[in-house]
Amino acid sequence: MNYPNSRLRRLRYNPNVRRLVEDIDLKTSDLIYPIFVCEGENIKEEIVSLPGQYRYSIDKLLILTEELISLDIRSVLLFGVSDNKDDNGKIACSHKSIIPKAVKKIKEKHNNDILVIADLCNCSYTSHGHCGTLIDGDVDNDLTIETLCRQGVILAESGVDIIAPSDMMDGRTGEIRKELDKNGFHKIPIFPYSVKYASSFYGPFRGAVSNSLDEGDRKTHQMSFKNSSDYLREIEQDINEGCDAVIVKPALSYLDVISKVKDRFSIPIIGYCVSGVYSMIKSASRENLIEEIDVTMEILFSIKRAGATAIITYSAIEIARKLNKE
Ligand code: PBG
Repeated sequence: MNYPNSRLRRLRYNPNVRRLVEDIDLKTSDLIYPIFVCEGENIKEEIVSLPGQYRYSIDKLLILTEELISLDIRSVLLFGVSDNKDDNGKIACSHKSIIPKAVKKIKEKHNNDILVIADLCNCSYTSHGHCGTLIDGDVDNDLTIETLCRQGVILAESGVDIIAPSDMMDGRTGEIRKELDKNGFHKIPIFPYSVKYASSFYGPFRGAVSNSLDEGDRKTHQMSFKNSSDYLREIEQDINEGCDAVIVKPALSYLDVISKVKDRFSIPIIGYCVSGVYSMIKSASRENLIEEIDVTMEILFSIKRAGATAIITYSAIEIARKLNKE
């Protein structure tokens, strides 16, 4: 039907009508807050590349988690910041490593009041910053999976709720699944970064965990944004290997991918609104060029509209404050 019989603005004049026909919403329970955890005590140190984000020692982390619960942010994604590094990341395969210690403390304090997801990768723990074991300068797929499996079991033993492998090795989801099951952890879900592009939007994150590369890049394992179809095979393989949900990263710039995954597969999708997006918004808003919360809200809604069920975002606290006020 066309104008003048159809007047689309009729649904927009009255704010109550507008609200009635809106069908996308964003709730505090959709938000997953990424946190950087470091060794030491009494540390809450601002990350230069991510203004407003901090590295927390475990004692300070436990104050933060209380604040998150009070804002009704019920999920966190933990990243380790480690000065102890080695050739292949085996250093993280220990209960003395930073994230297993942090998980144990959070769970002791909050039990099921907060969901703890651990990012599983070696890049915070290798001296060269690569995501795994190097052979002839390249990350060796199968050797890297061995350390990931060991780190995964340690995380499970420490009480983590969900494991999120972010390394992009082929076959890691299935191998980690097997290893978890063998050790009695069949109830722990795996949410792999199934779709993870080699993206310049990760720049500010690398300053946070100091995993910048001395040499090489991550293009032999992370995906090329010039390829429009390999995400399908990545998702298919992870589903076949027993993943429970998939993470798409970055989310912004890849909304087309989220939306096609939503159409093709029936699996929960989590979008990762990455560090580069956060820092761009921060600096533009500091220059008074844009309004930080409004722009962030619009981006998060676009990720939900594309088909994500939840969003990992550094803006979770500010957004929750705004949502709680409304
Ligand atoms: C670790 C990892 C990275 C991010 C999340 N997990 C960096 C990378 O792959 O280089 C980036 C997240 C962000 O930019 O917010 N493998």
